[in-house]
Parts: sequence; structure tokens; C-alpha cells
Amino acid sequence: MEKEKSPVRAGFCLTGSFCTFKNAVDAMARLKNNGCDILPIMSYNAASTDTRFGDAESHIRRIEAICGRPVIRTIEQAEPIGPKNMTDIMIVAPCTGNTMAKLANSITDTPAVMAVKSHLRTGKPVVIACATNDGLAGSFKNIGKLMNYRNYYFVPFRQDDFVKKPSSLVADLSLLEQTVQAALSGRQLQPVLL
Ligand SMILES: Cc1cc2nc3c(=O)[nH]c(=O)nc-3n(C[C@H](O)[C@H](O)[C@H](O)COP(=O)(O)O)c2cc1C
Repeated sequence: MEKEKSPVRAGFCLTGSFCTFKNAVDAMARLKNNGCDILPIMSYNAASTDTRFGDAESHIRRIEAICGRPVIRTIEQAEPIGPKNMTDIMIVAPCTGNTMAKLANSITDTPAVMAVKSHLRTGKPVVIACATNDGLAGSFKNIGKLMNYRNYYFVPFRQDDFVKKPSSLVADLSLLEQTVQAALSGRQLQPVLL
């Protein structure tokens, strides 16, 4: 993927939706294979929590192998992203309900939200791939807020299990690259509701 003949520089924040990590990291690998230069960032929880979906160090090792650089894991490391013009687009995939709430309310207390805030100071696009069991409940207002903010774009999402988890929403990460391409042109990929 290229923008004006140079590779797209994508920040890629992972937050603590551990069951969607594999899909997110696979999507990251596809972006890299298609020519994106990827700057990986993890929230504190994403970088430190071992779960039944894998231990934190193994996730970090795989991400660093794909991106060829260390994962940004502190607010201090994420802060220069905007001032040093390090990214053309910032992806948050997966994006938890917790991180969406922070982004919607300007709370900046993890490396992931710091990366978004720092990137946004230059007015460039942010892509959100939501994954949260309360998407149609407590997080719905935050999704609505973010959709109304300038520079925010959403990876199309759906209810992933309307019988057992009627409020749960999850982005379709197979559409990440198309969403990024559209966002770089200032367009929301449609349909956003799958
Ligand atoms: C195994 C496991 C799976 C989780 N899955 C999700 C999820 O899919 N979506 C979500 O919003 N939170 C999920 N959480 C909760 C978040 O990890 C938690 O809210 C955390 O504070 C998020 O922090 P972060 O947004 O800074 O990464 C999960 C937690 C655990 C332990």
C-alpha cells in the first residue's frame, strides 16, 4: 500500500480484546505484506495480560517479528508520534469498549490512547476496529460519539452472536485494509453496519 509513491506509515494499536488478537495480528501481517510500514503500539493491558488466548510475551514477539521494530509500550514512547510526524494513519484494532470510552472522552492514560491523541494533532485519520460485548449497551454512546468526530473511521462491524450476546459488536478485520484505503481518502467504507 502506497501514498504518493512512499509506503503508508500506519500506527497499529492493540488493546485488550484478547479473543480477537489473532485476527488483528493476521490483519496487521497482511497490511505489512502489502507494503505498509507499521509502528506497533499496545495498551498496558494488551502488553501485560496472559490469557487463554495466549501470553503477552508471545503476542509481542509475533508483532515485533511482523513489524521489524519494538512495540511501543509506554505513554512516553507514544508521545512523539504526532510531533515527529511518524504516522499517516492510526489503527486501533482491536479497540475495546474501555479504549473507545477513553477516546470519546479525551482520557489519555495508556500508550494506545496517547498514540491516537498524538497522531490526531496533525489531523490525520484514525481507524477503529471495535470489539466489545457492550457495543449496543454502555459503549453504544461512545461509538456514536466517535463516529461523529472528525478524522475517525470504523472498520465495518456486526453483532457477532445476537442470541447469546445481544449487545456484542465486532469489526470484520478482513475489511481492515479497505477501510484504511478509504480513510486515507477521507471516506468511511460502507456499509459500516454488516
Ligand atoms: C480474556 C479477556 C478477554 C477480553 N475481551 C474483551 C473484549 O473483547 N472487548 C472488550 O472491550 N474488553 C475485553 N476485555 C476486557 C479488557 O481487557 C479490559 O476492559 C481492559 O481494561 C482494557 O484495557 P485497554 O482498553 O487499555 O486495553 C477482556 C478481558 C479479558 C481478560
